[in-house]
Amino acid sequence: MQAIARAQPNIALIKYWGKRDRTLNLPAVGSISVTLADLYTEMGVDFDGGSDTDVLTVNGEGDAQMLPRVSRCLSTVAGEDRSAARIESRCNFPLAAGLASSASAFAALVVAASAAAGQQHSTAELASLAGQASGSAARSLYGGFAELENKNDGVSVDSILGAAEWPLSVVIAITSVSPKPISSGKAMEISRNTSPFYGRWVDGQTRDLDLARAAIEERDFDKLAAVSEHNCLKMHSVMWASRPPIVYWNAATLSCMQTIRDLRSQGVGVFFTIDAGPQVKAVCAVSDTQRVREALSSTGGVENVMVSGLGPGAQLTKCE
Ligand code: DP6
Repeated sequence: MQAIARAQPNIALIKYWGKRDRTLNLPAVGSISVTLADLYTEMGVDFDGGSDTDVLTVNGEGDAQMLPRVSRCLSTVAGEDRSAARIESRCNFPLAAGLASSASAFAALVVAASAAAGQQHSTAELASLAGQASGSAARSLYGGFAELENKNDGVSVDSILGAAEWPLSVVIAITSVSPKPISSGKAMEISRNTSPFYGRWVDGQTRDLDLARAAIEERDFDKLAAVSEHNCLKMHSVMWASRPPIVYWNAATLSCMQTIRDLRSQGVGVFFTIDAGPQVKAVCAVSDTQRVREALSSTGGVENVMVSGLGPGAQLTKCE
């Protein structure tokens, strides 16, 4: 059987940084994210592909580097005794540049693989399977505002608000499309082993999660803005204090942060968040999207600006 699924990346407002179990890829902390609407990965899985080994193409080209991770994920979903698969991934945004391409890829992969293998997994089970491949991918099974909670032997993900219940825009300033210098998985391990701030980061997360969840439930933008920026800067402080230091930002990243602060001082409700890459994601009300977009487009060093609303969780689009 073959199946195609589509999943959107999610942007963490309260971040996942650090693993408590590397074998099962369990995060050290919970996280809260928003799932986007307009950026996506489409993943086709065909277990009757006629090949003896898995074959992966990403945007039409073979990808030997990602293949082992994808093969492992397929075996977790469909079982070790599964047939070899042909996997076709297509993405409408730059890969490996801190735009959560692995989140949308693995969320789409587990949905497509489960359907192509003729299995019936619940969304919660699919989220857990996606999380084993990439921690942030678990959240892309859910739309709108999603929270990933740590449980004793795993994780559970739930929706806080649907995309339509609090429509917001995410304006993404692309400051470089070069692949990131170090993967987030490797960087997290360096932080855990060397950053003097790592323990404080883990200890402070419950409080940030509580504040952000309450802000979302109350649709209190200023409260969400304050805790999100604080959480983002704490995560990057953990990285900067690691040995060797992990610095994903460039000069334009800082300029974008200044643009967002300037907009705020002019009365625009907007806040930034930054992941394992130099791009800056600005979150604002839908009515302020154009103003934020123009301000970021004219910020020095910004190569491109993308805009997205909040969207749904991963969906199966074809199964035959
Ligand atoms: C900074 O989910 O890419 O984007 O589990 O090793 O695949 P792995 O890590 P990944 O890390 C995401 C880190 C982050 C913050 C976040 O999305 O919560």
